[in-house]
Amino acid sequence: MHTTTEERIIRPARNITHGNLLLPGDKSISHRYGMLGALAEGTSRFTNFSTGADCASTLGCMEALGATVRKLDNNSVEVTGVGGRVTPTESPLDCGNSGSSMRMLSGLLAPQEGSFTLVGDESLSRRPMKRIQKPLEAMGAHLTLTEGHAPLTIVGGALKAIDYTMPVPSAQVKTCILLAGLQTAGTTTVREAVRTRDHSELALRAFGAKLTRTADSVSIAGPQALHAMDAAVPGDISSAAFFLCAAALFPGSSLVLDSLGLNPTRASLLDALTALGVKISVLNLEEKNAELVGTVQVSAPDEGLGSATINGALAAQLIDELPVLAAIGPYTRGGIRIRDAKELRVKESDRIALTVKNLRAMGAEVTEFEDGLEVPGGQTLHGATIDSGGDHRIAMAFSVAALRAEGETLIQGAESVAISFPEFFNLLDLVAER
Ligand code: S3P
Repeated sequence: MHTTTEERIIRPARNITHGNLLLPGDKSISHRYGMLGALAEGTSRFTNFSTGADCASTLGCMEALGATVRKLDNNSVEVTGVGGRVTPTESPLDCGNSGSSMRMLSGLLAPQEGSFTLVGDESLSRRPMKRIQKPLEAMGAHLTLTEGHAPLTIVGGALKAIDYTMPVPSAQVKTCILLAGLQTAGTTTVREAVRTRDHSELALRAFGAKLTRTADSVSIAGPQALHAMDAAVPGDISSAAFFLCAAALFPGSSLVLDSLGLNPTRASLLDALTALGVKISVLNLEEKNAELVGTVQVSAPDEGLGSATINGALAAQLIDELPVLAAIGPYTRGGIRIRDAKELRVKESDRIALTVKNLRAMGAEVTEFEDGLEVPGGQTLHGATIDSGGDHRIAMAFSVAALRAEGETLIQGAESVAISFPEFFNLLDLVAER
């Protein structure tokens, strides 16, 4: 069981206003830059690297495997890579709470000589790992899981290329296979029915690798070497989601977020908020290492938020933003309905169960489905004790819901925000008018 170590009180706000906020670097991109920089030849420098504990887990594993990591000022990181060959370690590689570290690193290690054991915390040790075992074993790797979960051990060595159709949309699994394919003779292809985030494809190219893409597939011909590069990591749109949704709740709000990552495979939140009636403008759009970056201005509609149904491909693309969208559902006029999001049950927590439980604790009416939930609009919530289950996105989603509730809300397991966004509570105090 998760043990609560920190509690936070969130008081209601009158409004959300702030200009020109720069959010810490994107977690997904930082994982990839850290891993690829550590595998590459030469020294890479990344500015605005994610400050979250998850990316620190990735860097820690890469250091244990022989890369050199130097933390510089201002959230910059310098990584000197191993030039294609890692050094096996005696002790297990600790992925902490990070599914991205464990799944992507498994693909990076499977073609390497040696035996590697990957472990994680209690939450990560419950998450499904057969989804990486299947394709990696099809490539000829040996993976031993513990009842389908971590701890897992990989006995690495030369692999063979595969053509793999993913049964569940997952950028982590896609990346796992591409990182194995990068180091394997022949052409490895990954097919996906829903286009998941493509940071790995863009990052691999930025590190000098060649890959080809169609609308629903990515192919990489291996083996290929990676070369160090310098990059600024865009602000994390999944962290921004909490502030965008908070601003969406208050007519007259205004918030400006600078240098925000707007990769189209990640930016569906802006469409979802626009459909709810939120006024959003994007300025200074530019490309940095193939990632789109821009300034986002947001303000809430005077007439309140409308309604939204999120299902099908959109549910997969918005997977990390669904808890906060559900948490603002009661404050809309027409409610929020989420379906086709069964994957939420196997994230850092069962995010459907915890979202439903915490909405009910705040007095909301909500219907739970196996693959989602439905929250009617036009509801008034009251402050409550929130069980975050040690899940960063649940803690932050209900901190946002608390801003419009009557009375104070207590967030249990508040320390979990450090997984992706240690600055969250300070920034929330900065933007919330009380
Ligand atoms: C991520 C992919 C998603 C997402 C996670 C980060 C990534 O997970 O939920 O927070 O960086 O590739 P899945 O690959 O399990 O969908």
